[in-house]
Amino acid sequence: MTKKRILTGIKPSGALHLGNYFGALKPFVESVKETDDEVFLMVADYHALTTLHNKEEMRNNTIDLVKNYLAAGVDPARVVLFRQSDNLHHFELGWIFNCLVSVPFLMQAHAYKDRINKGEEANAGLFTYPMLMAADIVLYDADEIPVGEDQRQHIEYAREAVGKFNRTFGDTLKTPYEKITKNVGIIPGTNGQKMSKSYKNVIPFLGETEEIRKAVMSIVTDSSGERPENVYQLHKVVFENTGRDLAELDALYAENVGKYKNLKDALLMDIEKLIAPMREKKQAISDEEVKKVLAEGAEKGRAVSEKVMSRVRTAIGINW
Ligand code: TRP
Repeated sequence: MTKKRILTGIKPSGALHLGNYFGALKPFVESVKETDDEVFLMVADYHALTTLHNKEEMRNNTIDLVKNYLAAGVDPARVVLFRQSDNLHHFELGWIFNCLVSVPFLMQAHAYKDRINKGEEANAGLFTYPMLMAADIVLYDADEIPVGEDQRQHIEYAREAVGKFNRTFGDTLKTPYEKITKNVGIIPGTNGQKMSKSYKNVIPFLGETEEIRKAVMSIVTDSSGERPENVYQLHKVVFENTGRDLAELDALYAENVGKYKNLKDALLMDIEKLIAPMREKKQAISDEEVKKVLAEGAEKGRAVSEKVMSRVRTAIGINW
C-alpha cells in the first residue's frame, strides 16, 4: 500500500486548554504514532489574521502553540511542522480558487453565515477563508485531512474547489477527504458545559500550577447530588486518558461524599501528574528552537508545494 499524505492545520488563536489537549492534540500525536503516513502540520497564522489583529498575540500564540505541540510529543523529524505564512504558494493558489468559485457559494459557508447572523461584520478574509484553506490542503497533494466535525464543511469546500479547477483546466489537483477525529466525548469545562475559550470555562493546558489550581477550584459544584458531577466528569476524562481504572475513581468519590475540596485537590493532583512532564519539556524549548523547527518545516513544505504549483501554473497558462 502506498503511503497516504495527511495534512492538518491549527490556528494560533489563543492559549490551549485541556479540552484542546484531550480532544485534538493527544489524538493527533497518537494517530501519527500508529501509521507511517507522511504527516504535515501547519500553523494557520494567516487564517488567524481574520480575527487576530495584535502583533504580540500573533507572535506569542504561534510560539506557544509550537512549543505545546512539541512538548506533547510531535516529533519534527517525523512531522513536517510549518507556518502557513512561510510559504507564499498558499496565497497564490488561494487567489486562483477565488477566481473559480462564486460569491453565493462562499455565502453558504457556516463560519461566514454565523458571523452575519449574529449581526457582526465579516471581513473579506473571513469570506474567502475556505479557499485559502483549500489551497493549504491541495498544495501538498494531501489525501486525508484529520479535523473535528466543525471543519467538515471546509473540506467539502476544498473538494468543490478542486472539482471546479480540474473540470476547468484538466485533471491537475488531488481530491482531499476529511477524516473526522473520532468523538472523544465532550470535555467538560469548569461550569460543566463543553470546555471552550468562548464559554470562559477552561483549564489551561500547560499553565502554571497556581493557574490550574485556580481553575480547578472554580469548578461549579452543586450540592443537590451525591457526587459533584462537574468535578467527576473531568476527573473521569483524566483517568481515561492516563489508562487508570475507573473503579479507583469511583471508590475515591464514594469515600469523599460531600467533601468537594478533597475531590478537587485529587483532581488537581492528577492533572498535575499528567502535565508536569510536558510542562517541563516545554520550558526547555527556546524560541530559537521553535524558529529552527519552523524554518526546516517550511523548506520541506515548499519542496512539495513547488511541484504542485508548477502543475497549476502550467494548467492555467501562466507557465509557458
Ligand atoms: N480552519 C481550521 C480551524 O479553524 C484551521 C485550518 C486552516 C486547517 N487550514 C487548514 C485545518 C487545513 C485543516 C487543514 O480549525
